This record gives sequence, C-alpha cells and structure tokens, in this order.
Amino acid sequence: RYAYVNGRFAPHKQAAVHIEDRGYQFADGVYEVIPVHRGRVVDEALHLDRLEYSLGELSIAMPVSRASMRLIAHELMRRNALTNGFLYMQVTRGVAPRSHPFPKPAPRPALVMTTRQLPVPSEEAIERGISVVSTPDQRWARCDIKSISLLPNVLAKELAASQGCAEAFQIDDEGYVTEAAASNAWIVTHEGTVVTRQLDTDILSGITRLSLQRVIEDLGYRLEIRPFTLDEAYTAREAFITASTQYVMPVTRIDERIIGNGRAGILTTALRQAYTQHVV
Ligand code: PDD
Repeated sequence: RYAYVNGRFAPHKQAAVHIEDRGYQFADGVYEVIPVHRGRVVDEALHLDRLEYSLGELSIAMPVSRASMRLIAHELMRRNALTNGFLYMQVTRGVAPRSHPFPKPAPRPALVMTTRQLPVPSEEAIERGISVVSTPDQRWARCDIKSISLLPNVLAKELAASQGCAEAFQIDDEGYVTEAAASNAWIVTHEGTVVTRQLDTDILSGITRLSLQRVIEDLGYRLEIRPFTLDEAYTAREAFITASTQYVMPVTRIDERIIGNGRAGILTTALRQAYTQHVV
C-alpha cells in the first residue's frame, strides 16, 4: 500500500511528514474524505470545490492544480487497487518554525493523500441502523471549514463509542441538532417530510447531503431545510445520517429513545437506494 506525500508515492509504512509541519503543531490545515464506489470516485468535483473553499477561508494555496490533484488521486487508487472505501486528502499550511501567525513568506502547502479500503455493510447492518448519543456541540464557530482540528469531534465520537453508539448528535445552546460528529443529521416527520438543517457556519456542507438533496427533489419528496430540536428527533418517524463513509445510514436509536419501530425507516431505505443509484 502506498501514500502520497509532498510530491512522491511512498510505501504507507514509511510515509512521514516533518515534525514542524503546522498541521501537526496547530492543526493548521484542511482535509477531504472522498468516497470510492466500485473503483469510481463519487462526486469528485464537488469534493475538490469544497477543498478549495476550506483552503480559501484559511488563505492556504492549493498545493498543486486541481488537475494534478485528480491525477495523483487516481494513480494512488490504482497502486492500492482501491475498489470500495475512500480517498483521504490533507493539505496543511506547510513547515515553518513554531510561531502562531502565518509564516511569511508562505511555505509550500503540504499535501498528503491516502486510501482506505472499507467493507460494504451488510443489508442486515443497514436494516438495524445505528444508535447515536446526544452531546453539547463544543466545536468552534466555523464548522463550515473542513478543518483537521477535530478534537471536539474526537471526544464526541469517543463518548458515542463508550456507549456502544456509532455517532453523536451535537446539540446547540437552543436544543437544536447541528449535525453529528462526522456526518450530517436528518429526520423524517410523521407527515413524511424530510428535514435537515440549513447551511451556515455551524455545520459542514456535506457533499452527501448536497447530492441527496438533489435525489430527494428529483423523487418529489417533501424537503424542509430548517433546524430541528433533539426532542423532535426523539419523536420523529425516521432519522438518518449522511457522510461519504456511510452514504445514507438509518438511525434507529437516539440516547434511550427508539426511533420508529427500531428498524430502518421506509423513506430512509428508499433514499439510501436512490442515493446508491447516484453513486454508480
Ligand atoms: N466527515 N459533518 C461533519 C462534521 C463531517 O466530518 C462530515 C464528513 C460530514 C459529511 O460530509 P460528507 O457528506 O461530505 O462526507 C458532515 C468525514 C467523512 C470524516 O471526517 O471522516
């Protein structure tokens, strides 16, 4: 298995970055997780758009051209024989002696790419869905940037894992669900309306969310883009999350509350199937 690090492909075990990389010292960088389905990259252009957005918000230059990013990604996939899983791209501000302000002149941004093969979840696992915990949203005010500074997300995921759950719904000061620790949150009301929060600086603009939104509109389901509270989620007919590593994943328990009949919801299952058509 190979990794790409700053201009070359290196065996994964030996690939390394400099100890004064600002990603290591300050989490001064951004990343992308791009799904790969049956050897094909899903929504590559949208992921590169978001990478450019995240970098732009932090005044970090693209490390190489978009075309080069794609070439490197596809070469890495080929070398690693990646069929199902994801591509990971990380760009940091680069290497400089430790000092908080942006180094001047700007160092060369550091680029790392890796791949990860993932098993395809069984139909039974999807039907069972995942359990989530709720936890106060302790993240910063710019969650729209896909920053590698993920400590609050790590703590929320660890809380979930310690309770046998797969995700954590992050709750803002007013009791609304912002998103999950590494995915966007959705519910389906008893009227059959799909609900997900509006885009602002409190959540990441998920690419799966964006593509699923189009799928929902194409299928003619009712969609409301608005905040929903944890209480509304507890009593929703269905709930699910979306992320590049999960696609559309049913949520069948939130804290101690069973959602619906405790199995994947009908609309959620229809959306997962329709989304799967989108990725092939
Ligand atoms: N996480 N919200 C957060 C906080 C996320 O970290 C992610 C993705 C999403 C969903 O975005 P997308 O649909 O573009 O994957 C929403 C990735 C998978 C991760 O950190 O592993």
